[in-house]
Parts: sequence; C-alpha cells; structure tokens
Amino acid sequence: MGAALPDSFPAPDLAALAQALGPLAPVFDIRWWEDCDSTNAALLEAPPEDDGKVHVLAATRQSAGRGRRGRQWLAWPGGSLTFSALWRFAPASSAPAGLSLAVGLALARVLEKLGVAAVALKWPNDVLVHGAKLAGVLVELLPGRRTTPAAVIGIGLNLRLPVDAVIPGQAGGVTDLAREMGEPPTREHLLAAILAELHPMLATYERTGFGLLRNAWQKRNAFANLPVQVSGEGTNIAGICLGADEDGALLVRTAAGVRRIFAGEVSLRPAS
Ligand code: BTN
Repeated sequence: MGAALPDSFPAPDLAALAQALGPLAPVFDIRWWEDCDSTNAALLEAPPEDDGKVHVLAATRQSAGRGRRGRQWLAWPGGSLTFSALWRFAPASSAPAGLSLAVGLALARVLEKLGVAAVALKWPNDVLVHGAKLAGVLVELLPGRRTTPAAVIGIGLNLRLPVDAVIPGQAGGVTDLAREMGEPPTREHLLAAILAELHPMLATYERTGFGLLRNAWQKRNAFANLPVQVSGEGTNIAGICLGADEDGALLVRTAAGVRRIFAGEVSLRPAS
C-alpha cells in the first residue's frame, strides 16, 4: 500500500475547490477543519441554519470517525478524504430509504470517471475495488419531528493508506486510491467531483426515490447472484444475493422464498 504519509499538510485550497465546482459552487457552503472528532457528529450536534445551501464539513484529521454498526472509521491525516454533507429534502417527503445506496452509486460513478476499474457496491454502504474496501458511507438522519427531513451523509474514502495500516473487520481487505489509479487527484478536486456527482443524483433520488437508480446500482452489485450470509439484530439468513429492491431493501433468495432486509445493523458477507 502507499508510502509513508507526510507529517504536515497544506491548508485546503478552498478557492481551487470552488473553481472545480464551477457553476455548482454557490449551491454549497463548505467548511474544512483541520481537526474534528467526527464530521457526521459535528453536523448532527450543531446543524447549520437552513439557508438553502448544502452544508459540507470536511476534516483533515478525525479523532473519532464513525462507521456503520457502531464501528470506528479509521483514517490517517492526508491519507483519506473524510467529509459529511447535510442534505435537506423537500418538505414532507418521507424518510429517505435507500439513500446510502444512492450515495454509493455516486461514488462509484466518480471513481469510474477517474478510470478506476472493477468498482463494485456492497449493500448497503461500501464501495469496493477488486473486492477490497475503498470507501464507506454513513447516513444518519437528523432527529426530531422536522417538516423538512434532513440527512447527514458521511463519506470516508481511502486516498493513501500508510504501509502498516491495520483496519480490522474487513474480510475482503482494504485498498486506497493511490493503489487503484496511481497518483490520485487532490482532495479538493476529489471532493468537488463527488459533490458534483451527488447533487444531480440526489435531485433524482428526491423526485423518484431509489427506484430510478436501482438498475445502475444492480449493475455494480458486488455479490450479484452469489451466496451470501446476512447476520445481526437477530437475523441470520443464508441465500443468494439478488441485490437491492426499489426502496433499497436487500433481496436474498432463500429456501423459504425471497427475503427483504432493511439496513438496520445487519452485515452482509460472502457465504463461506
Ligand atoms: C462505514 O463504512 O462503516 C461508514 C464509514 C463512514 C466514514 C465517514 S468519514 C466522514 C464521516 N464522519 C464520520 O464520523 N463518519 C463518516
């Protein structure tokens, strides 16, 4: 994996970021902190006022990055792109189902445009390359009875992991962008590319739900038609992975018929 990481990092170039976003720049309010416990936690604890913009918080270092299922998200300063975006949906729209899948799809498209080969999606939130985890998505809904549903969309993407990086709990291993494409773009360009892909995709998602994005997700399903095991929250199901349903639920064909599984706290892995 990547070489040793530098000790210090230049301040993020927000002007370059705005330039890379071009006409989309005014849509976003982007902060980039040097240090943060978790960008998801920061936006959830103190959500910025709704001024019509999409609020984005990136951090060079995260001391308590959160992953799914109560796991820690390990990142190394300068070795990862870690950020969260507070997305507000149209008033009275229903709770966003399948949102993390839509976000994973946007990430996959960005990576493919960069020339990364063999990008695949693991339900509900992992982006894999050749079976190894490159990026993860953590969607957390803003609590409370809001008329405007809002979600904090957290993304962690490995850019250049240290040679001795150990990330437990990843059966397929981990990878980084430097390994998959050579010299990765700057973190500012990468963030701009992801936000530019997310923006129209989430507009589609908001209008139609996950349904219109489903085919594109299915094409990238890492376990399509393969035997899988789903476990957690009292669930233990073995069957053939049929991918995602219109609402983002996982479909598994079992001996007792097709089961629908909602994200919850379950984990999916290839059957041994
Ligand atoms: C996962 O794969 O389990 C999800 C990982 C999500 C990590 C990102 S890093 C930026 C944002 N802030 C967090 O604390 N977590 C997400």
